[in-house]
Amino acid sequence: MAVKEYTWQDIAKHMEPSGLDNWLVINGIVYDVTDWVKEHPGGKQPLINWSANDASKRFRTVHKLPGKLLKEIAPQYQIGILKETIYTMEDVAAHTDKDGKDNWLVIGEYVYDVTKWMKDHPGGKVPLVNWSGKDASDRFKKVHKDAIATMKKFGPKYRIGKLATQQMSNL
Ligand code: HEM
Ligand code: HEM
Repeated sequence: MAVKEYTWQDIAKHMEPSGLDNWLVINGIVYDVTDWVKEHPGGKQPLINWSANDASKRFRTVHKLPGKLLKEIAPQYQIGILKETIYTMEDVAAHTDKDGKDNWLVIGEYVYDVTKWMKDHPGGKVPLVNWSGKDASDRFKKVHKDAIATMKKFGPKYRIGKLATQQMSNL
């Protein structure tokens, strides 16, 4: 049977703060950790906090033997792989509608289609339209109180792929 592929939008539906429905990504593999939340020796909070996000780096740094865990415990929670498109800055620059009907932008290593986020964005439509087609990472970090937490919570739903880049990012 073919391996199931999930987009960030699919994964973003599983970030339940109570720990009753939680997926996350480690090294391109999608895990449904809902049943693991109760058993995880590190408690439920890290799994909830990283829900719908790429926890690879954190996973590697907090565990003593991450490779062993991935081989011996994680496979039973594996449900598929991440389907991720790579875009160039040129692709992004083709989505800059001034009325906010088709707008993409870059934050960190990812590309976001913020068209549907306009009406809900607490900062309004204007900054999203103004920054569409561009890399808004620095500005994003400056204007949001806790940029990383904000991105972890709201980003996955609008994330459509990765930027082809040689830069490193913390978001
Ligand atoms: C299926 C995936 C996971 C498995 C099998 C797993 C397993 C474990 C195990 C066995 C421990 C005990 C300590 C150790 O062995 O190093 C642990 C602790 C811990 N885990 Fe995980 N874990 C998983 C996912 C995650 C994720 C995604 C995070 C956060 C990004 C996380 C954060 C932590 C933390 C903070 C501790 C406590 C570390 C300490 O007290 O030293 N875990 N986990
Ligand atoms: C997917 C992308 C984005 C998400 C998920 C997002 C999320 C949020 C959230 C949750 C807030 C509420 C306040 C806070 O968390 O600090 C906010 C406020 C704001 N955002 Fe964004 N935002 C995004 C992109 C942007 C971009 C690209 C800009 C461009 C500069 C921007 C500008 C602002 C401004 C000016 C505020 C108001 C800040 C304030 O009143 O303190 N946002 N955004």
